[in-house]
Amino acid sequence: MCGVVGYIGKNNGVPIIIECLKNLEYRGYDSAGIAVINEKKLKIIRKQGKVADLEKAILEEGRSFIGIGHTRWATHGVPSEENAHPHQDCTGKIAVVHNGIIENYLSLKDMLISEGHKFKSDTDSEVIAHLIEKYYSDDIYKAVKESIKLMDGSYAIVVLHSDHPNQIIATKNKSPLILGLGKNENFIASDVPAILKYTNDIIFLEDGDLCQIFNKNIVIRNSNDKIIDRPVKKIDWNYEMAQKNGYDNFMLKEIFEQPRAIQETIISRISEDKGKVYFKEINLSDEKIRNIKRIVIVSCGTSWHAGLIGKIFIEKMARIPVTVEYASEFRYSEPIINENTLVIGISQSGETADTLAAMNEVKKYKSSIISICNVVGSSIARISDGVIYTHAGPEIGVASTKAFTTQLVVLYFFSVFLARINRNISIPQAIVRMKGIRNLQRKVDNVLKLNSQIKKLAEIFYKKKNILYIGRGVGFAIALEGALKLKEISYIHAEGYHAGEMKHGPIALIDKNMLVVVIALKGRRYNKIMNNIEEIKSRHGVVIAIVTEGDERIKKIADYTIPIPDVNEFLSTVLSIIPLQLFAYHIAIKKGCNVDQPRNLAKSVTVE
Ligand code: M6R
Repeated sequence: MCGVVGYIGKNNGVPIIIECLKNLEYRGYDSAGIAVINEKKLKIIRKQGKVADLEKAILEEGRSFIGIGHTRWATHGVPSEENAHPHQDCTGKIAVVHNGIIENYLSLKDMLISEGHKFKSDTDSEVIAHLIEKYYSDDIYKAVKESIKLMDGSYAIVVLHSDHPNQIIATKNKSPLILGLGKNENFIASDVPAILKYTNDIIFLEDGDLCQIFNKNIVIRNSNDKIIDRPVKKIDWNYEMAQKNGYDNFMLKEIFEQPRAIQETIISRISEDKGKVYFKEINLSDEKIRNIKRIVIVSCGTSWHAGLIGKIFIEKMARIPVTVEYASEFRYSEPIINENTLVIGISQSGETADTLAAMNEVKKYKSSIISICNVVGSSIARISDGVIYTHAGPEIGVASTKAFTTQLVVLYFFSVFLARINRNISIPQAIVRMKGIRNLQRKVDNVLKLNSQIKKLAEIFYKKKNILYIGRGVGFAIALEGALKLKEISYIHAEGYHAGEMKHGPIALIDKNMLVVVIALKGRRYNKIMNNIEEIKSRHGVVIAIVTEGDERIKKIADYTIPIPDVNEFLSTVLSIIPLQLFAYHIAIKKGCNVDQPRNLAKSVTVE
């Protein structure tokens, strides 16, 4: 969490840094700050609140060709001006912005205090500025190099020293940091969307890299202090893709981008008439795939829900056993995996600290690792043996929407891919599986046309204090995801539950005040879910059911129905989550919540 940025070059850096911070704000938004060097003096402005508040405060600050900035998601110390970055040393010459957690900061702070350093904040990050001061004589690069030797934890650090107005120093360990290359100007930031307006030429830094960033060149040294050439990647996202483009907020834009995102994720990966799926990116031989005895999926949040659905897809089609692990638990679980295990990390950002740590853990066991990521070149993508990219485009809203549906599409095709290689399904069967996908984009468009109907439902129910979501099979994971969407952006308590478990406890919650959203599509479990609805209605609960188009039977018992097109069980997951995304969205808007930046959350959870 937190976003860091730095600029050095021919232009006035102040508005550039502010622009970059606005694009990074989804990573944290409780306070923000900027440091620039003017006439060999450091000027720092920090504000509690949003980047817009910071922007107002710096209007008269004039020009500077070098600067750093930060937008914060508090870990150590409450959101306040004192705890906002950049932090300074005692001389007032060093300014530091930091994303991550310095785990041994208390002992470092004690040491520095005993040496006479004066601290002004409650943050872990401030120790970095004082450590650099401790090691500084006249070489800022060396001072940072010495300082990081003492730090434990995760960090992306960007440093300015007022006596060195021609360079920015930056380094990273377990927190993302990228360089953006411009003409006579260079950028450093936590992630790509921050600087897309200025450049598409990106270097992804590795842990241990320590950089000197000048306006015309950049020197990167690796952890062995060797100058190293990191590859420059051309990113095919553009600035507009990371803007609202006429929508009131990113979440709605991203919900409505799903038809295109799904199509782009599918395109060039399948040959429908041959029943073939191409995943050239994953670098696994057919023989290796045939030897896979078990698959473990690791992920968090919405990506974990995609994993639950992926398990059902893979087990059904490829008949390989799959377990889905919370990434935060996996590394402490002494996993039973070996060279015949395939580990799949799912992550939109590719930077989630728990998922990254879990995947690093896997390396010890010689299992094959692939990832399903949205952000090209992200840390999780880089540590994987192969990556399948979802082509959702930048997802800025904290609530994951288009990333989820594109993950489902990838998992669907990946299941067909595995099933073909281990010959569990024939070519004609694979063709049948693929046929439905052709019209998926149009069907997603049709579901999005339900927007105004769903908005009306939101207007009826936005004052609810509790809402239950239930489903069976893939519908259970959709229920979990629907509930997560609602709680994270509207702050209404929402619980996803397995419908088959209702009688084992939760049915006690049902009375006339309880709204239950039921995923009740046609299929093997239809009659069972109908029973659930009857049981809820007998106890005067209120039911909104997501149903298959043309289902007249449910209409007679559910209070409200939302019909989605009749597709196979796998593709129904993509269609059935969309009404729930819209339902959560409209409730949150009606309640006056900030859907893009919900309280206490950040888009990329880069601390464990
Ligand atoms: O970037 P990732 O997919 O690894 O992120 C995982 C979760 O933090 C994320 O899905 C989170 O749960 C979303 N806010 C849900 O909408």
